[in-house]
Amino acid sequence: MTENAELERLAAGFRAFSAETAVEAPAYAALATAVAGDRDVLGFVAGLPAGKRHPTLFFAALRFLGGVPADGAELRDRVAADADRLRRTVLARATQTNEPARCAALLVALGLIDGPLALVEVGASAGLCLYPDRYGYEYDGRPVGPPGRVRLRCTTSGSVPVPRTLPRIAARIGVDLNPLDVTDPDDLAWLRALVWPGPVEAERVQRLDAAAAIAAREPPRLLTGDLLDRLPDALALVPAGATPVVLHTAVLPYVPADRRAAFVDRVRGLPVRWVAQEAPGMVPGTGEVGPGGWGRSFVLSLDGRPLAQTAHHGGRIDWLD
Ligand SMILES: C[S@@+](CC[C@H](N)C(=O)[O-])C[C@H]1O[C@@H](n2cnc3c(N)ncnc32)[C@H](O)[C@@H]1O
Repeated sequence: MTENAELERLAAGFRAFSAETAVEAPAYAALATAVAGDRDVLGFVAGLPAGKRHPTLFFAALRFLGGVPADGAELRDRVAADADRLRRTVLARATQTNEPARCAALLVALGLIDGPLALVEVGASAGLCLYPDRYGYEYDGRPVGPPGRVRLRCTTSGSVPVPRTLPRIAARIGVDLNPLDVTDPDDLAWLRALVWPGPVEAERVQRLDAAAAIAAREPPRLLTGDLLDRLPDALALVPAGATPVVLHTAVLPYVPADRRAAFVDRVRGLPVRWVAQEAPGMVPGTGEVGPGGWGRSFVLSLDGRPLAQTAHHGGRIDWLD
């Protein structure tokens, strides 16, 4: 691809990100538009390895190092003045946004499985989605679980089988290329930097911190490595008498298509239950893969069967009646 064509491809990605973040992160929407029109900044991004050029990672690295730039001009100056540190941060880090609010949808699927459950989450980040039984919920205002510092509010449409009680979790096991440790101040700062700035930011950071405190008290077992390679090791940790549940949310778009297909085949052949909350089409039979791989909603599925559409960062479940 010529340099111009590559810059235009990157610019299109930043414009798409601008549209995606317009409501939830207007500051990022404006910055992404500025980047799309700035050849120097696009040139910096183009110099990063493939897989490290996504706007979320680029903006999180800027934020981690010095806060959210006020506008395109400040962003451009900071990229010019701090290129080495920025590059090092992007190379050392990855998009690992860990959003406990996704548990409001996961809980509904888990409620359809006989327990006690041994959760095996692949792409777990810091493992904050491994604590669905430690959070409190409100589905259209109806409480489920005890009140606590993590309260997950969720609107629903259709006949969502909202569970009355929380599941019994016998094990919390995770796999990640790079597990994050919520007791490490740098990792926690990175998780905070990944939260988009905007109207729901304060609520998300408060939830992240409260969930991190729960995980710090009762750490999950996190294995380092690829989801396909480490799945057998993770399943070997499932205690006798518990139902193994392979779980993943917001992970498969990061996995190359051939590895994704191999992972899906592997899980289907295992004596486990399988809960996924992923972009359409990432699990076969859950829709068409959209441009950029993400789509406007996730699809919640159980054993490969689509159950609902859900919001990317939690808060909405539309049941597929
Ligand atoms: C966007 S985060 C989602 C984290 C968590 N599931 C959640 O929903 O809050 C995606 C995670 O998948 C991990 N990941 C990506 N590819 C992976 C692979 N091939 N094997 C294991 N983990 C992977 C990343 O390191 C990252 O922590």
